[in-house]
Amino acid sequence: MSLRLDFIVANSTELSRKEAKRAIHAGEVKVDGIPCRKTSTHIQPGQAVTWQGALLSIKGDRYLMLNKPRGVVSATIDSDHMTVLSLLPTEARQGLHIVGRLDKDTTGLLLLTTDGQWSHRITAPRSACAKTYRVELAEPLTPEASHHLENGVRLRDEDRPTAPARAELRGPRTVDLTITEGRYHQVRRMLAAVGNHVESLHRLRIGDIYLDSSLAPGQFRPLSDHEINSVR
Ligand code: URA
Repeated sequence: MSLRLDFIVANSTELSRKEAKRAIHAGEVKVDGIPCRKTSTHIQPGQAVTWQGALLSIKGDRYLMLNKPRGVVSATIDSDHMTVLSLLPTEARQGLHIVGRLDKDTTGLLLLTTDGQWSHRITAPRSACAKTYRVELAEPLTPEASHHLENGVRLRDEDRPTAPARAELRGPRTVDLTITEGRYHQVRRMLAAVGNHVESLHRLRIGDIYLDSSLAPGQFRPLSDHEINSVR
């Protein structure tokens, strides 16, 4: 549920509504690290509001989607590489965790939240949450390989075949692969199992949440109520 900026400031500081409005007009209040002078701005659950450097605690959890760029690791801390959390303003990072990691070289939809139960509903194996990846391949995908991907393949060093998947050809070397598991490097290993090689990997969706095409790599936005509630 979105809330007005002046409501949030007045309800989470010692300021009255009138003083909160004055502080906002004066540019003292930041939203996701940027001064916001409009008192009626509607703040979504994922946005971080700060006043005098302190994060104002908006009741409830925060939910974000990020378009992960290549070369950034899905971790909160890493001494050697840039992390996805470092792409967010400091004020917006607090308490967030990553919902379903992506490899360093994978791009696309990454969800972050403070709500552990919500993320568990996405990542728990028994939820079998569908994730779709746009896969660019080194070799054209043969009908046999596509059939194997859809019916389950044996990954190297694993006994249990992969669960049924969906492979939609978008071009001779481009396939949208939808899987419901989250095994280690799963998509890359599935393609290796059918004798191909992944050149690039981009996540398009998780459950009913689709990557917002207006987000450039590295950009993020709060999830809408509809997106948050789509995870049950
Ligand atoms: N499968 C992979 O191989 N890599 C990812 O980042 C996600 C799924």
